[in-house]
Amino acid sequence: MFGKIVVVTGANSGVGFETASQLATLGAEIVLVCRNEVRGSAAAQHVAEAATGPKPTLLIADLLSQSSIHALSSDLRRKFDRIDVLINNAGAMFATRELSVDGIEKTWALNHLAPFLLTNLILDRLKAAPRARVVTVSSESHSGSLDFDNLQGERMYNFFGAYNRSKLGNILFTYELARRLRGTRVTATAVSPGPTRTTFGSEMRGLPGWFPRIMMRIPFLLHDAATGARTAVYAASSPELDEVSGRFFLKERARRTRSITYDVEVARKLWRVSEEMCGLSAVTLRRARA
Ligand SMILES: NC(=O)c1ccc[n+]([C@@H]2O[C@H](COP(=O)([O-])OP(=O)(O)OC[C@H]3O[C@@H](n4cnc5c(N)ncnc54)[C@H](OP(=O)(O)O)[C@@H]3O)[C@@H](O)[C@H]2O)c1
Repeated sequence: MFGKIVVVTGANSGVGFETASQLATLGAEIVLVCRNEVRGSAAAQHVAEAATGPKPTLLIADLLSQSSIHALSSDLRRKFDRIDVLINNAGAMFATRELSVDGIEKTWALNHLAPFLLTNLILDRLKAAPRARVVTVSSESHSGSLDFDNLQGERMYNFFGAYNRSKLGNILFTYELARRLRGTRVTATAVSPGPTRTTFGSEMRGLPGWFPRIMMRIPFLLHDAATGARTAVYAASSPELDEVSGRFFLKERARRTRSITYDVEVARKLWRVSEEMCGLSAVTLRRARA
């Protein structure tokens, strides 16, 4: 990975931190995207110690805020003429239905819309690389249907349903992105770390908060974050995936996803709806890239 610039969101803990560290060990120049300066600096320090290539860069962004994602994209564009790999890893679960600063349900905003918006905003930098990859961290635990009238849990909310819906969004986005990028040198894949012991869900309060706390204590169910990161590292770096796009990987192997993920009409509709939710149009894209 020497000579490659790799952006990893949510890089200060869990799967994101391990992915960043492993790719730094392979020689990549890592850009850590974190929302907290203190946690981000500590992680950047560790990644720097693991790095066999250039020193990592830390960028601060709250991916729950669209204006912060725009600012992040401007930072990335100022610093880099090209980006070789974008790893959309940051994610969370929310015990109750809460709205982001943009008035969007937080699970949908962070897990689905943030990767959608960030990828679109820096797509020209990815296209400027000799070969580039967009890797989005999803889950084998994704919904098997999509109710467009309940994307934000406005009719019915439960934290697990909202999470599974957002992870379905990641896969539909990836497969549609792969179709849109045909004929370019940019690929799009989705991955799952599999059940992994991290701090995931630790901010959840009340009864739903017990779910991740109990899950994370069942040793035989979970592997460690370094193992969980392997599939993202594989998707980001393996030469055998140079031409592979529109696939989902778990344990470093391509897997089939739920039938709905292969429905092109659903994916196109979701793309349009996501554009609207992000205020993304040809004009905003031109302005963001100016
Ligand atoms: N762990 C599993 O079993 C599992 C299974 C399947 C898929 N996944 C997926 O793997 C990905 C990583 O999760 P993980 O298990 O490594 O959990 P984690 O340790 O909680 O890591 C999540 C990362 O996302 C960051 N993040 C959260 N909200 C953010 C925001 N508003 N802006 C910017 N960054 C934000 C967190 O930053 P802070 O530290 O500041 O909160 C953290 O760095 C997620 O997409 C998750 O859905 C995990």
